[in-house]
Amino acid sequence: MVQDLIWAKLAEHHQATQARPLRALFAEDSARFTDFSARLDDLLLDYSKTAVTAQTRALLLELAEATGVAGQRDAMFAGEAINTTEKRAVLHTALRAPKSHRVLVDGQDVMPAIHETLDRLGAFADGVRGGRIAASDGAPFTDVVNIGIGGSDLGPVMVTLALAPYHDGPRLHYVSNVDGAHIADTLARLDPARTLFIVASKTFTTVETMANAATARRWIAAALGEAAVGAHFAAVSTALDKVAAFGIAPDRVFGFWDWVGGRYSVWSAIGLPVMIAVGPTHFRAFLAGAHAMDEHFRTAPLAHNLPVLLGLIGIWHRDICNYPARAILPYDQRLLRLPAYLQQLDMESNGKRVRKDGSPVERPSGPLVWGEPGTNGQHAFYQLIHQGTDTIPCEFMVAAEGHEPELAHHHRLLLANCLAQSEALMKGRTLEEARELLAKQGLSEADIAALAPHKVFPGNRPSVTLAYRKLDPFTLGRLIALYEHRVFVEAAIWGINAFDQWGVELGKELATALLPVIEGKAPADAHDSSTAGLAGYLTASS
Ligand code: F6P
Repeated sequence: MVQDLIWAKLAEHHQATQARPLRALFAEDSARFTDFSARLDDLLLDYSKTAVTAQTRALLLELAEATGVAGQRDAMFAGEAINTTEKRAVLHTALRAPKSHRVLVDGQDVMPAIHETLDRLGAFADGVRGGRIAASDGAPFTDVVNIGIGGSDLGPVMVTLALAPYHDGPRLHYVSNVDGAHIADTLARLDPARTLFIVASKTFTTVETMANAATARRWIAAALGEAAVGAHFAAVSTALDKVAAFGIAPDRVFGFWDWVGGRYSVWSAIGLPVMIAVGPTHFRAFLAGAHAMDEHFRTAPLAHNLPVLLGLIGIWHRDICNYPARAILPYDQRLLRLPAYLQQLDMESNGKRVRKDGSPVERPSGPLVWGEPGTNGQHAFYQLIHQGTDTIPCEFMVAAEGHEPELAHHHRLLLANCLAQSEALMKGRTLEEARELLAKQGLSEADIAALAPHKVFPGNRPSVTLAYRKLDPFTLGRLIALYEHRVFVEAAIWGINAFDQWGVELGKELATALLPVIEGKAPADAHDSSTAGLAGYLTASS
């Protein structure tokens, strides 16, 4: 097959070029930054600090052609049922398309319903923000608690924090974990009379969310009476019948569709808490940013297409260089939850071991995704990134401008640190340089010999940097959509379905089977001795 040949060429090319350090690539080509960066307006992707050369890029682009990335992309945008195991279309892109677009699913244009829901969401959000939609005593809500987990939590949490400078609505809180500590600690700070709950669950069956929602309902009923419950709850789901059974009035229920995956749902009604926080206008700017990235992904030539390039770099690092992980390192405190968000987006999408046709994936698929904002990470785990025995490709993100002009000095320090890290990773420090440094400090020859090896940085550690003018709603939308499509490109090359998540099923089934054991209603002996032993220990009275 053509693609096997290209994979082989890539491996050969890697073999032939891996001894050439990144330092040398920069020394040889003074225009390397220009040659190996791409832009969408102010959004810049610099991939010059990877080992990708013109030949690497050409081979990777050939791979994208041979695996039909563009065709698969077009099938997604056209509403084909590309989520094959669930026989569903994948149309989170339609959620951020303008009203004038036509997107057909089974011959039906989905755009009118999307915009009708958006308008209803906007009216509800404005109502809560302005006090027209009020608590049972008629006074405005001061606090909104979103109850959801996974895609019904991580997106809104991440975006609410990222858009803090635009937050002028009620305070937002998020409860996800079934651990009672989460809801208890949240409710302890709140006044039931001033609190609105949004129960967010695509399926409205997720145990964690249902348990937290029931606890919240009891809390409101106990404090304000059963009659107050209706005023203090709203819901977001695709399962409207189940929401009705929970007792939430239809005018407070916002639907979405089975062609929106949980981890791709922040653009749908799942974004309601964000809309309440920042207002419908900013939320629409967030959607517009994502749409701009969709259009770029759909139309830009592959060689200049940001999601395609980012995906190909991912493939190069994972499959050709065999790096097991990627670190997400935003130099942007408000992107604190972006690594966690991208963990679900990437690992739930591409953590797969079989292809769409059920055959095994022949190469390593999705990497381990992790990270923390800089500069905090620098004082925690960067030691391993610089001097550990594994190479971890890093993805830096940084804004040219902060939101605090009065603290411009902080921003300059942030920028200097971000650039210093990618430079240090790329350049490293040789033994000779380490020795020179120590000699300058006046150390003895014996001390230099003892200390120098510890001061060596191998360098040659790849990173990409995403730079943008300012983290506003439009840019955040572009950034998230960029990562969504990057995950898509990688999945398309591996031939896997990025839109199902069967891997979370088994744990759920076993938890259901174990609950009677924990409740003392069933014996533990059907389980292995470790599970039974632990259950015995954890349920024994002290
Ligand atoms: O963890 C599995 C999963 O199905 C995720 O894909 C999803 O985002 C999450 O659970 C929550 O599901 P729901 O929105 O249906 O409650």
